[in-house]
Amino acid sequence: MSKALDGVKILDFTHVQSGPTCTQLLAWFGADVIKVERPGVGDITRGQLQDVKGADSLYFTMLNHNKRSITIDGRDKSGKEVLDALVKTCDVMVENFAPGALDRMGYTWERIQALNPKMILASIKGFGPGPYEDCKVYENVAQCAGGAASTTGFDDGPPLVTGAQIGDSGTGLHLALGIVAALFQRNSTGRGQKVDVAMQDGVLNLCRVKLRDQQRLAHGPLTEYPQYPDTEFGDTVPRAGNASGGGQPGWILKCKGWETDPNAYIYFIAQAPVWEAICDVIGKPEWKTDPDYAKPPARLPRLKHIWDTIEAWTMSVTKFEAMETLNKYDIPCGPILSMKEISEDQSLRATGTVVEVDHPTRGKYLSVGNPIKMSDSISEVKRSPLLGEHNAEILKDVLGFDDAKVAELLASPGLTGKR
Ligand SMILES: CC(C)(COP(=O)(O)OP(=O)(O)OC[C@H]1O[C@@H](n2cnc3c(N)ncnc32)[C@H](O)[C@@H]1OP(=O)(O)O)[C@@H](O)C(=O)NCCC(=O)NCCS
Repeated sequence: MSKALDGVKILDFTHVQSGPTCTQLLAWFGADVIKVERPGVGDITRGQLQDVKGADSLYFTMLNHNKRSITIDGRDKSGKEVLDALVKTCDVMVENFAPGALDRMGYTWERIQALNPKMILASIKGFGPGPYEDCKVYENVAQCAGGAASTTGFDDGPPLVTGAQIGDSGTGLHLALGIVAALFQRNSTGRGQKVDVAMQDGVLNLCRVKLRDQQRLAHGPLTEYPQYPDTEFGDTVPRAGNASGGGQPGWILKCKGWETDPNAYIYFIAQAPVWEAICDVIGKPEWKTDPDYAKPPARLPRLKHIWDTIEAWTMSVTKFEAMETLNKYDIPCGPILSMKEISEDQSLRATGTVVEVDHPTRGKYLSVGNPIKMSDSISEVKRSPLLGEHNAEILKDVLGFDDAKVAELLASPGLTGKR
């Protein structure tokens, strides 16, 4: 079966998480992703958070499926010869080096265009042009600078970062969309272009609703926030705890077993259209007609009491029993699932969202497969490459060098890193 990006060649100069997430997605859609790594060292994540001695870490393997690896020293003459050939052959070059690093290696946008005018150069940096443009940036820096940390957590606690990698993987996703859009535009223009995504911008895009609330503040208190009606609002959006970011109030409530299980909780949304069903389920049928509870605006100043009352019911059942009852009435809710529960979930296995992959040096491990499901471009998750595993194959099959040249390059400092 064909794949959506069959025939697209990606020169993958990415490392750590943000860039590799992007190129992994493109690989799942069928692109030929050629990962360039420093000889002898490789992507730094190969050796970070290692759980199995001598084997590539899960950090690396889970971000680099379906790719091929070639080792190239981009500062060496023979390394540059191979890189130049790859730039001429590939459709897209993806990189997330620190600002200026690619230029220092000799691959300015002007030089790349001269080598291949159809090349799409896709880059992730921490910040766009401005006071921080030269900064190196990791996930949590982006979460803080993009508005996520100041709006996450509880009012009486410090700013919090979230476990979802919205700075790295979120930006990788944004970049992947930019790349496919640029590939589509190239069909009509015949030209490549630059695609830039700053991690701060990517996070802010995901925090759009908080910039919405910043502007709503000028017109009065944010009535769906837990601060209302008891606490004064300041001049900026406060942390909203577990309140839902939308027009329907929501909160995390304890379920049976919460005293010993840190994840015996459920997210409960008191959606207006199902309010009457909620009243019946929690044993408060009188709230259906009580003017203090019957309509959404009347409920807003009483939300704390409402959550306490609903929680008295959720604490009498497990989160899964609660799901079963609430779903019968179309009451929107979700169990707080632990990573252990997710890793054992059979429906996620059945859809390929959680997959078991075999690896020659580490054995079997679980990974997250492609969350984007397409009916005519099915993603198979293949193991990540060993460092330099495809050196000869890429020189021969992708770049078309003859056997003598392949042998010469394989032994050169540009590929071995040994001078
Ligand atoms: C992630 C980050 C902080 C890591 O910083 P770092 O480990 O110091 O790595 P750098 O990107 O600065 O690269 C280090 C050097 O290795 C060089 N290098 C990397 N691969 C190379 C190769 N194959 N051949 C030769 N040199 C190579 C780079 O050119 C750079 O050289 P220079 O700065 O001396 O000119 C930084 O890359 C960054 O800010 N990236 C953009 C934002 C981003 O994606 N962050 C999220 C990462 S998940």
